Amino acid sequence: MSSAHFEKVQEMIKEIDAQMPRTADELEQFRVRYLGAKNQIKPLFAMMKDVAPEERKNFGLLLNEAKQKAETIFSESQDQLKTQSNNKDKRFDTTAPGLPLPLGARHPVSIVLNQIIDIFRRIGFTVVENREIEDEWHNFTALNTPDDHPARDMTDTYYLKNDLTRMLRSQTSTVQVHEMESKKPPIRIISPGRVYRNETISARAHAQFHQVEGLYVDKDVSFADMKQVIKHFARELYGDDVRIRLRPSYFPFTEPSAEVDVYWGLNSEEDYRMTKGTGWLEIMGCGMVDPNVLEMCGIDPKMYTGFAFGMGIERQAMRKYKINDIRMLFENDIRFLSQFSSAH
Ligand code: DAH
Repeated sequence: MSSAHFEKVQEMIKEIDAQMPRTADELEQFRVRYLGAKNQIKPLFAMMKDVAPEERKNFGLLLNEAKQKAETIFSESQDQLKTQSNNKDKRFDTTAPGLPLPLGARHPVSIVLNQIIDIFRRIGFTVVENREIEDEWHNFTALNTPDDHPARDMTDTYYLKNDLTRMLRSQTSTVQVHEMESKKPPIRIISPGRVYRNETISARAHAQFHQVEGLYVDKDVSFADMKQVIKHFARELYGDDVRIRLRPSYFPFTEPSAEVDVYWGLNSEEDYRMTKGTGWLEIMGCGMVDPNVLEMCGIDPKMYTGFAFGMGIERQAMRKYKINDIRMLFENDIRFLSQFSSAH
């Protein structure tokens, strides 16, 4: 008779043991069923009177085990639910300080390039880009560069290994050709981009760098117009009191051609070094587009004239930020790159 009572309690212990409330609802159901005022362990206590007196002690111990099991499971589940909801609260705590998000910095070449683009945009130049792998026509021939010109040499230009009629462009002047071939004047563009030359890499020279090309073709475009535009550009970039000068020069695609210098001053040893003792810094090449070039690109040189200019960007960036090794601009060392303001 009493062994049946013992079995009942043991079954109850097994039943309780199998429970694992995982939600607040389940926990409440568990509490009501095993710990509440009308819990299911209670009727088992009432069976005590039917148990043989010598077995009552053991029966009581078993009942306590059932009760304690229920209490342990309850408090364990309760703890677990509490930490879960704490974690949840943390996840959605909108007042917690955010994780630090490191801000990127602009590359010094981009900063200077953006300034240059801004200046020309404000006076009506449009930015266009074109390809970096070129053919001889766009890189040399249409730019009036003779077949035996040294720039065409393998030692100056990177030709493609499997196609010696194609090359990495050595100048952004290629974009002039693309523009004139595909558009009718007025053409007023600047074109920034990467160029490549077979140079020995050193502190002052690199095999890849950036240029900005400019081209203005229309009726009655004059050398004086060019000078005004360049002067305006220099004022905007270097300040109102900048002095510029144009020195006669030679480029195959312009006639006449000039190089533009800005006056830098000779106040320090560094100025002497940078300007080779002249006080003047060369900033770009320019000239009136050679009528041959206009003609080769399908523009009538009797109707139209134009001017063009081209400048390197790295050198300007190096001057602005006093960087004395061009290689720093291409090594992508974050310790170097993070130093430049992203304000521009
Ligand atoms: N393409 C020349 C160079 O790489 C720069 C240049 C000079 C471009 C004169 C021009 C120009 O458009 O008119 O050195």
